[in-house]
Amino acid sequence: MSNHQKVAVITGASQGIGAGLVKAYRDRNFRVVATSRSIKQSTDTDIVAVPGDIGDPATAEQIVKEAMARFGRIDTLINNAGIFISKPFTEYTAEDFTSKIAANVAGFFYITQRAAAEMLKQGSGHIVSITTSLTDQAVAGVPSVLANLTKGGINSATKALAIEYASRGIRVNAVSPGIIKTPMHAPETHDFLAGLHPVKHMGEIRDITEAVLYLESAGFVTGEILHVDGGQSAGY
Ligand SMILES: NC(=O)c1ccc[n+]([C@@H]2O[C@H](COP(=O)([O-])OP(=O)(O)OC[C@H]3O[C@@H](n4cnc5c(N)ncnc54)[C@H](OP(=O)(O)O)[C@@H]3O)[C@@H](O)[C@H]2O)c1
Repeated sequence: MSNHQKVAVITGASQGIGAGLVKAYRDRNFRVVATSRSIKQSTDTDIVAVPGDIGDPATAEQIVKEAMARFGRIDTLINNAGIFISKPFTEYTAEDFTSKIAANVAGFFYITQRAAAEMLKQGSGHIVSITTSLTDQAVAGVPSVLANLTKGGINSATKALAIEYASRGIRVNAVSPGIIKTPMHAPETHDFLAGLHPVKHMGEIRDITEAVLYLESAGFVTGEILHVDGGQSAGY
């Protein structure tokens, strides 16, 4: 086993779950490449910030270039950047569709492809994507077709990639949250959102970071969609 300090690339790292993941991975002594459109450089020399739109292939190129130049490897990629637009289906605009595909799908595809290429050279790696339990069970009153279309694709791609890379040292998993207290949800909506879970409360950022860290250390787990959703996917 090698003793190198591990390196994680975390997308959507400026706030919410992504910022929590940066802290969680630094606490595990990973070096971190943190990226989002508004990300700022850190005073921590083991964090490199790469600003850019994750739907742009040039951003993905830059992230991997910086990771390799500064830290020499990529052990983990966390595809966390994403947006949520809830609207009745016929009210979605072309702009809604384009921005969802860019952030959620292109944002998965370009960086995963480039990070996986480095992991294949290393013969090891871990890719985790943050999806949503809405893909398993839609909720009446929370119209979510674009979330289902994009995140559902990532759940399925997670399994396909896990199988493609199963014998090449790369594990591929997803964490499927319920509704988590982040800047994505205004505090005045929290009571309503809490009631959408069988456990009758929202999740916290640490619920997701702990799930990702479990997958990080779970060497026999690949192709898993780990639900962290207060029972949402189990039933209603
Ligand atoms: N919170 C929830 O209830 C919940 C539930 C299920 C799934 N999720 C998923 O969990 C992930 C994180 O959610 P969150 O609640 O932490 O959201 P958040 O607080 O809104 O943060 C989203 C992050 O993604 C980045 N981002 C958005 N669009 C981007 C783009 N085009 N290019 C680069 N970065 C982009 C944002 O940074 P910049 O603005 O700086 O670009 C920000 O860092 C998302 O994929 C979301 O779909 C969240």
